[in-house]
Amino acid sequence: MATVKILHQYWAYLVLLILVLATFNAVFKTITKKEYEPRDFRVSLFTLIVSHIQLLIGIVLWFAADYFSEMSMGEIMKNSIMRSNVVEHPIAMILAVVFITMGYSKHKKQLTSTGKLKKIAIFYSIALLLVCAKIPWAKLF
Ligand code: HEM
Repeated sequence: MATVKILHQYWAYLVLLILVLATFNAVFKTITKKEYEPRDFRVSLFTLIVSHIQLLIGIVLWFAADYFSEMSMGEIMKNSIMRSNVVEHPIAMILAVVFITMGYSKHKKQLTSTGKLKKIAIFYSIALLLVCAKIPWAKLF
């Protein structure tokens, strides 16, 4: 449990780093109308992989914590830290990974550089906003 938690915490740095990189890269290249290159494909794929791994670690952490053995749903919802751990953080992060997955698969179907980069820019930006909104910053630093 402790190991999984540490892994989830450190893996979060990687998720943040690569997601920020992929998003800003796609936004910048969309605005400046640059060509889509193999490097762009690699960075978006790497973001997809890294975020899916974090999703799996998070799910393991969530089930391992066995929150409902000690508290009822009502008690959890009344406590802001517990509500965040059990409900808000997981839901926001699952949604973020869904947006990353949608962005990645939609960008692959596009035939033009602008089309590809635009899909990544839009969907990864939404994911980044969700991650930034619900990541427990105080525990990260
Ligand atoms: C995909 C992006 C995600 C990021 C960047 C992320 C990041 C973090 C960070 C930085 C913490 C604080 C770690 C600590 O306590 O030191 C945390 C805690 C937690 N995360 Fe995530 N997480 C993600 C996804 C998920 C998902 C999908 C779930 C569950 C389905 C989840 C479940 C949890 C739980 C239960 C905790 C609280 C652990 C505790 O304090 O007992 N996370 N997460």
